[in-house]
Amino acid sequence: MDLILGIETSCDETAAALYSGQHGLLAHALHSQVAAHARYGGVVPELASRDHIRKLPGLTQQVLDEAGLSVAQLDGIAWTRGPGLPGALMVGAGFARALAWGLDIPAIGIHHMEGHLLAPLLEPHPPAMPFVALLVSGGHTLLVHVTDLGDYRLLGESVDDAAGEAFDKVARMLELGYPGGPAIAKLAAQGRPGVELPRPMTQRPGLDFSFSGLKTAVRQYLQEHEGEGGEERGDDKDETAISTLRADVAYGFQEAVVDTLLIKCRRALAATGSRRLIVAGGVGANARLRERLNAAAQCDGFSVHYPRLELCTDNAAMIAYAGYRRLCRSAREPLLADLDFSVRPRWPLTELAAVS
Ligand SMILES: Nc1ncnc2c1ncn2[C@@H]1O[C@H](COP(=O)(O)OP(=O)(O)OP(=O)(O)O)[C@@H](O)[C@H]1O
Ligand SMILES: [Mg+2]
Repeated sequence: MDLILGIETSCDETAAALYSGQHGLLAHALHSQVAAHARYGGVVPELASRDHIRKLPGLTQQVLDEAGLSVAQLDGIAWTRGPGLPGALMVGAGFARALAWGLDIPAIGIHHMEGHLLAPLLEPHPPAMPFVALLVSGGHTLLVHVTDLGDYRLLGESVDDAAGEAFDKVARMLELGYPGGPAIAKLAAQGRPGVELPRPMTQRPGLDFSFSGLKTAVRQYLQEHEGEGGEERGDDKDETAISTLRADVAYGFQEAVVDTLLIKCRRALAATGSRRLIVAGGVGANARLRERLNAAAQCDGFSVHYPRLELCTDNAAMIAYAGYRRLCRSAREPLLADLDFSVRPRWPLTELAAVS
C-alpha cells in the first residue's frame, strides 16, 4: 500500500489529492464553489452536487498529471463519507467507488473531521499520539483527546454555533463577504482594543464552547453604537467613524474567540496531561489564534502543530492521508467485497473505533 487518491466533496469544495507513503503528499487540487453559491447567501445543495460531478474527473486527472502518474499506479482510493451534504457526498462516493472497482483496488470512506484532525501530521516533524486536537471549522468546534488512529475521546464541543460559523455570521453583520473568517481577520488588523465582549463559558469549569451569545453581544453592540445592523446610520456618524467602529468590533470579536479557544485548550491539556496540541480546521488558519497559541505553548511548555494554511480548510490531501493511514492497517479483502457504499451526512466523530 503506497499511493492513495483522496476525494473530497462533502460541501462546497471539490478536491482531489495524491498521497504516497514513501514520498508524502504528491499533489492536491481544489475547486471552490464559493462564487457559484454567493448570490444565494448560502450553499445550495443541488448546485453543489452538480458542480462536484462537473469538476471531479478533471481535478483527479490534474493531480495525476502533476505527479506524473497514471490511475493504474493507484493502490487505493479514499473518499469523504460524511458528515456533509448527502447529494454532494454521494458524488464523491460514487466516483471513488466506481474507479476503485474498475481498478480492482480498495476504497475507503473517511470521516471528514478525522481528515481535518490528521492534516497537521502531513507537515514536517509531526507530533506523536497521544495529543489533544482542537478542531475549529465552519461546522464544528471540538476538543478531542487522540490516543490512536480512530480512538477519539470527545473532551468538549460547541453547544450551539461553531467558531467558524460565528466568524461568518459576525462578518455578515459587519457587511463583509463570505467566508467571514479571513475578512474579519483582515479588518481586525486595523482595529484597536476597547470593544469588550464576553468569553462564553470560560467562568465555569468544563471544556464545552458556546459562540451564539458572543454573536448576539456583537449585534447588540452594533445596534447601540451604529443603529440596527449598521443599516440605520445616525446623521452624526460619518462613514469613517463607522469603518473605525467596525474594525474595533472585528478586533474585539476575534480577541474574544481566540481567548476562549486558548483558555479551553489549556484546560484540555491540563485535564489529559498531554503536552502536545494540534489545531486544525478553517479557523486554525487565523493568524491571531496561532500567535496566541504559540506564545502560550512557549510559556507553558507544550508543543503546538498546525497544517499549512491551505490544508486548514477543506481539501483532499487530508482525506488521502487518512485513507493511507487506515488502509495500511486494514485487510484488503473485506474492503473489496464491500462493493456497495453509503454516505453518512450526520456522523459523530466519536462513533469511529480504534483501528487495530
Ligand atoms: N483566517 C481565518 N480566521 C478565522 N476563521 C477562518 C479563517 N479562515 C477560514 N476561517 C473560517 O473557517 C471556516 C471554513 O473552514 P472549513 O473549510 O474547515 O469548514 P467547513 O468545511 O465549512 O466545516 P466542517 O469541516 O465543520 O464541515 C469558515 O467558517 C471560515 O470563516
Ligand atoms: Mg471541513
